[in-house]
Amino acid sequence: MNIQIRNIYKIFGKKPEAQLAKVKDGMGKDDLLDATGHTLGLDNISLDIEAGQIFVIMGLSGSGKSTLIRHFNRLIEPTDGHILVDGNDVMAMNPQQLEDFRRHKISMVFQRFGLFPHKTVLENTAYGLQIQGLGPAERDKKANYWLEQVGLKGFEQQHPHQLSGGMQQRVGLARALTTDPEILLMDEAFSALDPLIRREMQDQLLELQKSLNKTIVFITHDLDEALRLGDKIAILRDGKLVQTGSPEEILLSPADDYVQAFIQDVNRARVLTAGHVLQPAKLTVTLKSQPAQVLELIRSNGADYACVLDGRHLKGLITQLDAQRACQEQADGLHDYLSAVHTVHCDTELEQVLPELLTRHGGPIAVTDNDGQFEGWVCREKLIALVA
Ligand SMILES: Nc1ncnc2c1ncn2[C@@H]1O[C@H](COP(=O)(O)OP(=O)(O)OP(=O)(O)O)[C@@H](O)[C@H]1O
Ligand SMILES: [Mg+2]
Repeated sequence: MNIQIRNIYKIFGKKPEAQLAKVKDGMGKDDLLDATGHTLGLDNISLDIEAGQIFVIMGLSGSGKSTLIRHFNRLIEPTDGHILVDGNDVMAMNPQQLEDFRRHKISMVFQRFGLFPHKTVLENTAYGLQIQGLGPAERDKKANYWLEQVGLKGFEQQHPHQLSGGMQQRVGLARALTTDPEILLMDEAFSALDPLIRREMQDQLLELQKSLNKTIVFITHDLDEALRLGDKIAILRDGKLVQTGSPEEILLSPADDYVQAFIQDVNRARVLTAGHVLQPAKLTVTLKSQPAQVLELIRSNGADYACVLDGRHLKGLITQLDAQRACQEQADGLHDYLSAVHTVHCDTELEQVLPELLTRHGGPIAVTDNDGQFEGWVCREKLIALVA
């Protein structure tokens, strides 16, 4: 499900509506507080969150992250503006529709786990299903499945206090997933965990997301976490949206000094992956392409080579010289004229790609996804520009 946020304002205080005009006229957070005693939580936020994306919201403490995410399931009502989920206006839902929406479509994972101390791990996990009205057998089956998915098989009958923080958060995640929501809201969900466990949880979330394809809204203070998880990142400051973009866009073109301050200590080579920087293939041909046409294609584009694909699998490169040779030898197809290509997985950190690229005499490196399908190239110039 996609989420569209349109011109959301949230003002906290006694008479929020009465302050709206001032904010729309440009009064900022500090001035509003001084002049009226009202707190500006969100200031004209518009966002598009695509289905299946991990969308990260970042910003300093008090910048409005939690306020924003709580609008998505209407735990908070906006002072003005609209929230659309798959085109449906969340503000227009009646109480019954809203309850349905919260029970089936959207769930939340909290920073402090939010588990019931007197319920077992299994009962905690099955809680959302109980609320949905499912019978014990069915809800235990689903809860057991998700506990196994997050690595907690064997702990079903324990109580939260018997588990480590990381394990408790896994219960929180399993609980959020049992109702099979389409949207997962995670507010600083991993922030209470120590760094190693935190990284494990990030890996687990990414791994699960490969098959789940949920729309995940993830709040964090931590830029490394944002860059690892986010397909897109939005940065808030004093209730305003300062920048939205891919991790690469944020790192390469920070919108202002505030964003710059977030990213200044980042080691780009370690946080960016081949998948972040890949470029699509310019010229593609197949094994059966005729050498004369391939040569013409390469020449007319002023290129050095074309990619030879079989479906979406990369077979190799055909260089201009080899295409010429194939023509001279009147070859029927490109099979015997290919150059091999070095390939990396899209999750490979640039730190590891860089030496490969340098030792390979500047030849391009191909990037593949989990199924070994070709996604694009990492080219030398771009990589060096990025990590320099
Ligand atoms: N219920 C409330 N009543 C009054 N002001 C509030 C309320 N909730 C939030 N605020 C104010 O709105 C602003 C945004 O708060 P919010 O909790 O969304 O920040 P945050 O980015 O999530 O911060 P943190 O990183 O510390 O969790 C803050 O100035 C806060 O004081
Ligand atoms: Mg918060």
